[in-house]
Amino acid sequence: MNQPVLILGATSAIARGTAAAFARRGHDLYLASRDLDELQRSAADLHLRYGVTVRYGLFDAEDTASHPAFLQQVLAEMHGLSGVVLAVGFLGDPLAARDFKVGAKVIAANFTGAVSILSECASYFEPQKRGFIIGITSVAGDRGRQSNYVYGAAKGALSLFLQGLRNRLYASGVRVITVKPGFVDTAMTFGLPGLFLVASPQDIGERIARTLHKSADVVYLPGFWRFIMLIIKHVPEPIFKRMKM
Ligand SMILES: NC(=O)c1ccc[n+]([C@@H]2O[C@H](COP(=O)([O-])OP(=O)(O)OC[C@H]3O[C@@H](n4cnc5c(N)ncnc54)[C@H](OP(=O)(O)O)[C@@H]3O)[C@@H](O)[C@H]2O)c1
Repeated sequence: MNQPVLILGATSAIARGTAAAFARRGHDLYLASRDLDELQRSAADLHLRYGVTVRYGLFDAEDTASHPAFLQQVLAEMHGLSGVVLAVGFLGDPLAARDFKVGAKVIAANFTGAVSILSECASYFEPQKRGFIIGITSVAGDRGRQSNYVYGAAKGALSLFLQGLRNRLYASGVRVITVKPGFVDTAMTFGLPGLFLVASPQDIGERIARTLHKSADVVYLPGFWRFIMLIIKHVPEPIFKRMKM
């Protein structure tokens, strides 16, 4: 197998762009999500276009008990892994903030499930002393806003988790990269009001693959979001709490 990469949440538009970028570079792929029919179509398409080996399988972020066996299955089928990209995400209804049942799903998909599977991956990569983990969080995790603060809290927690994991794995040479996209044109954002500077998922996917050739640990995509968020993070709270965001 050629430096296989596991893509979690592989039916996401950003993940498809990322998978294509890795396939273009010759990596074999394992695509995972809950939609096996869609994964089968994607796997066939990527194999046809780029000639790499593409396998796929069922992964449910919320079913954390299944994660150890899932990873073992992937490792057996791919004869090891060189890296993993976590693209799983669930925005949920903004009313999630008021209905804990929805909020709990948002937290389970974006944070608890991510911690579970990435901890398994870390335990595989650490003794190998090589590999990479790319975690897709969001600019939404940089500051709590009334429009999506449960999702934002889950993504913010994921960013902190990745920071700690990076600190742990540094000594073993395993890279952990935190990717924070701004608005991207995908199913997740379709029809949402107030979007601006919307990027294409293909472009973001290509930029995600390029992060491996650069040294940054935390990457905003596109890069100008670093400055937008710098401003947003520095608005004093007495003003920020009055803003409709
Ligand atoms: N779009 C944006 O503007 C934007 C901005 C910042 C960050 N992000 C983040 O970027 C990543 C990709 O976003 P996207 O917009 O491309 O997403 P998307 O098209 O809405 O896809 C979401 C992905 O998450 C998977 N997923 C959701 N719940 C899951 C679960 N319980 N178990 C396993 N897989 C699950 C879905 O797979 P199945 O349904 O096939 O299982 C799908 O592959 C996400 O982490 C998102 O939070 C997106």
